[in-house]
Amino acid sequence: MQLFIDSANIVHIREIASLGILDGVTTNPSLIAKEKGGFDAIIGSITAAVHGPISVECVSERAEQIVPEAERIAARHPDIVVKVPITEEGLKAVHRLSQDGIRTNVTLVFSVHQAILAAKAGATYVSPFVGRLDDIGEDGMQVVADIKAAFSRYGFPTMIIVASVRNLEHVRKATLLGADVVTVPYTVIKEMVRHPLTDAGIAKFLDDWKKVKR
Ligand code: E4P
Repeated sequence: MQLFIDSANIVHIREIASLGILDGVTTNPSLIAKEKGGFDAIIGSITAAVHGPISVECVSERAEQIVPEAERIAARHPDIVVKVPITEEGLKAVHRLSQDGIRTNVTLVFSVHQAILAAKAGATYVSPFVGRLDDIGEDGMQVVADIKAAFSRYGFPTMIIVASVRNLEHVRKATLLGADVVTVPYTVIKEMVRHPLTDAGIAKFLDDWKKVKR
């Protein structure tokens, strides 16, 4: 399983990359809007900090505009994967981009039906948003399980990125389901490192070490 950070904050991205556990980054317009600096500078600093797939989202809505926007975004750096929301126009664009060898991440996926269409269009990745489904009383991880079963059943090469992760339980379930990638917010990655028994164990070991004659 690959671990991505879901963030456009370069300080957080650099900190997590320094741990040696980071495989890639996902951004979206809302995450970029939270940061200081312009789009060019933010994307440039992320591509310089992380060597792996970096998702950057298109904002055009018609296929005729999505394709050239995606080409411009992809031309910025070889690690960039273009995010395209799942719509009819988005599917047309993903199909054309896949034929031109541009990697895509079909985003805002909330059902197995949407994921199958994205895979058929040639998406490199699909991103089911588990947290937003849980927010409306649905079971986000069940959608991931359905997508995983469908892709395995028919041999689709499209990879699943579990997105809209809110907590450790989402990460645990994504792992057990065999998701290809889980994209995790900074705070949840920090939580993954820690356990209260680890903290207590270190404190006890350090305390006992003081009693050892050296
Ligand atoms: C993933 O690619 C998205 O950027 C992200 O996971 C959305 O998460 P949110 O539902 O917390 O905004």
